[in-house]
Amino acid sequence: MAQALPPLDHPTPPPAALALAQRLTARPAAEVEDILEGVMRSPVELIPEVSHHLIGAGGKRVRPLLLLLCEQACGGAGRGVPLAAAAELIHSATLLHDDVVDRGHLRRGVAAAPRVFGNSASVLVGDYLLARAYDLVIRNASRDLLLELSRVLSGMAEGEILQLVRSGRATLSQTEYVRIISGKTAGLFSWCARAGASLGTLAPVEAAAAFGLAFGMAFQIGDDILDCVADPAQSGKDLANDLVQGKITLPLLLACEEDAALLPRVEDAARHPDEEAARAILQSMFATRAIVRARQEVARYTDEAREYLLRLPATPEREALEALARFLVERV
Ligand code: IPE
Ligand code: IPE
Ligand code: MG
Ligand code: MG
Repeated sequence: MAQALPPLDHPTPPPAALALAQRLTARPAAEVEDILEGVMRSPVELIPEVSHHLIGAGGKRVRPLLLLLCEQACGGAGRGVPLAAAAELIHSATLLHDDVVDRGHLRRGVAAAPRVFGNSASVLVGDYLLARAYDLVIRNASRDLLLELSRVLSGMAEGEILQLVRSGRATLSQTEYVRIISGKTAGLFSWCARAGASLGTLAPVEAAAAFGLAFGMAFQIGDDILDCVADPAQSGKDLANDLVQGKITLPLLLACEEDAALLPRVEDAARHPDEEAARAILQSMFATRAIVRARQEVARYTDEAREYLLRLPATPEREALEALARFLVERV
């Protein structure tokens, strides 16, 4: 007998979690949007079309927020704007590429760019955004930050490639899952926190970077849970796309650990993508403790993030970062 679905996602962080962060960064965040607008302008018409389709459709802008809040919390003001824009551009590029690789249909509540403009356009405009991001960083970051970003970008590609080569195998180890998500997601969060903190005068840079890493881990595990439970009308993304694409995430791993009969079904669903089978697998998953245990992992990484956050000066910005971390747990 199918169990009731766990609670649904919110489309964007509810006002209480984001309001303080947005209020504290209103001015620099508007400048970030101006830079994004400028980058999207190009005489090659496909560039504004594809990039507006994605960037204009919204998104939570979590990475720029993280960078700007860390900067302000550490005594800096304003110099992080181009780097925050670069972080959002890198994220946008990875989303354009990701929707090709994952064959996503829905992104930010609208048709994913590859479905509208095709795979080639999405890959190439993603490359363009990445190049523009790098240009911003080269002009505005220290050599150390630039080197760190190079490392992060290689790690993002490695994480995605490891995920690809392990796809379809429900025997993926938790250690490998952690490697995948720390590379593809948490590294950029960590860089944002590091970059922001390094522009301040108070500079607990390593603590900020560790905060960003733990925050990013909680963020991706939360996203992987939402893939299993969130209503597309609210999340703006496809339900169960990870499962359909053979991407083995923590909730799936944990479910297969508890219910060995799920293992061949998950692997089969990856070989022969079928929405009906995917929904049946989700129902079997809800009969295990997988979602509850994955939520516990989100809470554990969020607690770790909070501990590092306490090493930053006690400011309203730190409070806003804490509220964002709390939101990661609440949204799943
Ligand atoms: C989605 O990121 C990709 C992941 C790393 C999970 P976001 O959840 O930040 O996506 P937007 O920018 O709000 O659309
Ligand atoms: C995306 O992970 C990670 C990136 C760095 C792009 P997902 O594949 O889970 O992201 P969504 O769910 O499609 O946004
Ligand atoms: Mg995806
Ligand atoms: Mg996802």
